Amino acid sequence: MRRFTFLLIAVATTAGLVAIIGPAPGHADEKSASYVTEIPQGYRDWQWVSSAHEAGNLNSLGGVLGNDVAIKAYREGKLPFPDGTIIAALHYRYVPSEENNKVFGEAQSFVPGAPTNVQFMVKDSTKYAATGGWGFGHFAGGKPGDAAFMKSCFPCHEKAKGSDLVFTRYAP
Ligand code: HEC
Repeated sequence: MRRFTFLLIAVATTAGLVAIIGPAPGHADEKSASYVTEIPQGYRDWQWVSSAHEAGNLNSLGGVLGNDVAIKAYREGKLPFPDGTIIAALHYRYVPSEENNKVFGEAQSFVPGAPTNVQFMVKDSTKYAATGGWGFGHFAGGKPGDAAFMKSCFPCHEKAKGSDLVFTRYAP
C-alpha cells in the first residue's frame, strides 16, 4: 500500500512537471495553434460562396467555398461566424481559353489554369483567439506555408473587421 502511494505521488509529480515544462498532450503549443497545418477534409465538395479574379502579380482566379456551418451563417447573415466555420479559397492561374475563344471567334474567354494554392480560414475562437478567432491555412502543392509567411494573413484580414475578418460576400 505504502509503495503504491509512493508510486502514485511519483507519477503525479512527473505529470505535474511535464505540464509545467511543456504543453500538455492534446493541447497544441503556441506555434501549431497559430495557423492551420493540415488541409481540412472534403473541402472540394463544399458549396460555392463566390469567385474573385486578382490581376497583377497574382494573376489568379479563385473560387471561395464554405462548409455547411459557413454556408448557413452566410445565408442567415450571421456575424460573427460561429466556431466550426471553414472557408476555403481555391486559387488557379488566370489563363485564356484558346478552345473557347475559337468558338466565340474572339479573345474573350478566361478560365482557371494550373492550381496555385488553397487557403483556409478556420473559426475556433478558443484555439485561434490571438488571431481574431480564425486559424489561417495556406497550402501550395499540399505543403503548408512557413511560419513567417503565415504571419501576413491576420494583419491584412483584420482590415475586414466589420465582417468578422472575411472579405468575400455571398454571391446570390
Ligand atoms: C494584403 C492583404 C491580404 C493578405 C496578406 C492575405 N489575404 Fe486573404 N484575402 C484578402 C482579400 C482582399 C480577399 C478577398 C478577395 C479575394 O478572394 O481575392 C481574401 C480572401 C481570402 C479568403 C476567402 C475568405 C475571405 O476572407 O474573403 C481566404 C480563406 C484567405 N483570404 C486566406 C488567406 C491566408 C491563409 C492568408 C495568408 C497566407 C491570406 N489570406 C493573406 C486579402 C489578404
